[in-house]
Amino acid sequence: MVKLRIVLGLVALTILVGCRNDMHDQPRFKPLAQSDFYADLRSSRAPVEGTVARGDLREDSYFYTGKIGANPGDYMPAEVPVNEETLERGRERFNIYCAPCHSRVGDGNGMLPQRGYRHPPSYHQDRLRKAPLGYFFDVITNGFGAMPDYASQIPPDDRWKIVAYIRALQLSQNATAADAAGHPIPSAPPRFEEPGSGATLPVQLPQTNETGERENVSGAHQ
Ligand code: HEC
Repeated sequence: MVKLRIVLGLVALTILVGCRNDMHDQPRFKPLAQSDFYADLRSSRAPVEGTVARGDLREDSYFYTGKIGANPGDYMPAEVPVNEETLERGRERFNIYCAPCHSRVGDGNGMLPQRGYRHPPSYHQDRLRKAPLGYFFDVITNGFGAMPDYASQIPPDDRWKIVAYIRALQLSQNATAADAAGHPIPSAPPRFEEPGSGATLPVQLPQTNETGERENVSGAHQ
């Protein structure tokens, strides 16, 4: 008899526990499901007009667009100082994101165009040499013709660093003897500690000038 009571008790307990459905079965919509509750049949409400996502206020519109009003500006935003670090980062990002098409020197003969992609113009033509900095920022942000935009891959900060590096590239491909400030022209061919295997980059030896002095070259990894 005692046994039977225990068994019945357990059965009752199991049933009662099974009946607990506090929040398991609440009235709610699956995300983006249809609903006839609202006139537009959408269960999800659109954000109030003018809603700004946290951290997305973008008060400094030049930093995010490269434009002053409708026109590209020709200065670097205050957030991105032009120094060696910026140019280094710009070079690294450029070689990753742009060089496959534009090539490492920016002449437009990257690997993709060599394999049939539309040929980009050289950065070293007058029109693009004179183009304002904000123009390059805008092309990266919104794309241009056959070129896709890189807004989702490259954050604004890095886009500006790439822009600064492109200007440096343009200078490097259009420099005069005076710009070289006493360096031999043409410069001595690079010498390598490690030639690189295709999977690894070559490791360059520090360059020396005629007197055997080390020149200030920081390209050991390029
Ligand atoms: C997939 C190949 C590809 C990549 C990657 C690419 N571009 Fe381009 N780019 C092009 C092509 C193609 C054009 C020419 C588009 C046209 O005229 O329709 C172009 C044009 C341009 C122009 C010239 C616009 C003009 O006024 O003629 C600039 C500046 C430029 N790209 C910058 C960049 C930068 C900076 C990057 C890296 C963030 C980049 N591109 C990455 C293919 C590419």
